[in-house]
Amino acid sequence: MNNAMNESALGGKFTFPGTSLTVHRVGYGAMQLAGPGVFGPPKDPDAAVAVLREAVEAGVNHIDTSDFYGPHITNHIIQRALHPYPAGLVIVTKLGARRPADGSWQQAISSEELTAGVHDNLRNLGLDALDIVNYRAMGAIHGPAEGSIAEQVTMLADLRQKGLIRHIGLSNVTAAQVAEAQAITDIVCVQNNYNLAHRHDDALIDDLARQGIPYVPFFPLGGFTPLQSSTLSAVADRLGVTPMQVALAWLLQRSRNVLLIPGTSSIGHLRENLIAARLTLTAQTVAELNGIAAEY
Ligand SMILES: NC(=O)c1ccc[n+]([C@@H]2O[C@H](COP(=O)([O-])OP(=O)(O)OC[C@H]3O[C@@H](n4cnc5c(N)ncnc54)[C@H](OP(=O)(O)O)[C@@H]3O)[C@@H](O)[C@H]2O)c1
Repeated sequence: MNNAMNESALGGKFTFPGTSLTVHRVGYGAMQLAGPGVFGPPKDPDAAVAVLREAVEAGVNHIDTSDFYGPHITNHIIQRALHPYPAGLVIVTKLGARRPADGSWQQAISSEELTAGVHDNLRNLGLDALDIVNYRAMGAIHGPAEGSIAEQVTMLADLRQKGLIRHIGLSNVTAAQVAEAQAITDIVCVQNNYNLAHRHDDALIDDLARQGIPYVPFFPLGGFTPLQSSTLSAVADRLGVTPMQVALAWLLQRSRNVLLIPGTSSIGHLRENLIAARLTLTAQTVAELNGIAAEY
């Protein structure tokens, strides 16, 4: 694996396996740029544009998005803020859902829907091909659910053959689904719900690390219910940083294949998140933080 982990800026670099795409380990998740409930436009589109520009100016070269954020709105904002895209910027998007007029999240996994989703992303991001597309399985309320994803992964592999997608990843999946997909095509990343409090994927992270595949936690800060823990707050106070910075530093230290995409609509929070990689947690502090999952 050719990843320089001694670089402290934005957590060092990581190359998606079998690709020429290398990103800093601290990236940015764009979901928070849409309106409330990830539906409709944000109150202040100019502020959303400013957050993206500041992220990229600070060296972020990994942005996570989806055309079903808004829907379409987050991708429009990314295009407005950053197009023409700087060399080396990796935009990762996802397919598998749609947002009807009532704002609900519905599965969109037929061949027609996946193909239309690729074209929506291309158009709304202003791209000819998508660097990485995650197949996002809908799963159950609290996480992934077992069941074959072979049909959808095969459809994405076909779209890749057509040159519309460069690489394929997975989201909201189980270890069995990762293995099933890997028998069909190369998988370059896995994006699941994981943070200090929610550690169902510990074994999967280690397994992917052995394969050199990045694990990209969504909800790294707890998502719609940001992490709250007296242990986390006490550690942050002691170190003179914020709880969210500790949560991100813990993830970076959890495993070298963890790539961060914290989401924020605030420049202040963005700045805080981007410097979290400067924080080094001692083994004793990590052990203390490892107790948090049991509090939840
Ligand atoms: N594959 C999937 O199914 C899936 C699901 C969810 C998300 N995602 C992706 O993962 C990314 C990250 O997840 P997320 O944005 O839902 O959740 P998150 O990163 O865990 O947390 C975002 C929340 O934390 C707040 N926040 C961010 N930085 C903060 C800071 N320094 N201090 C205090 N509060 C802070 C944000 O509010 P402010 O805006 O006020 O900062 C927002 O409410 C998303 O942006 C999206 O790209 C993927």
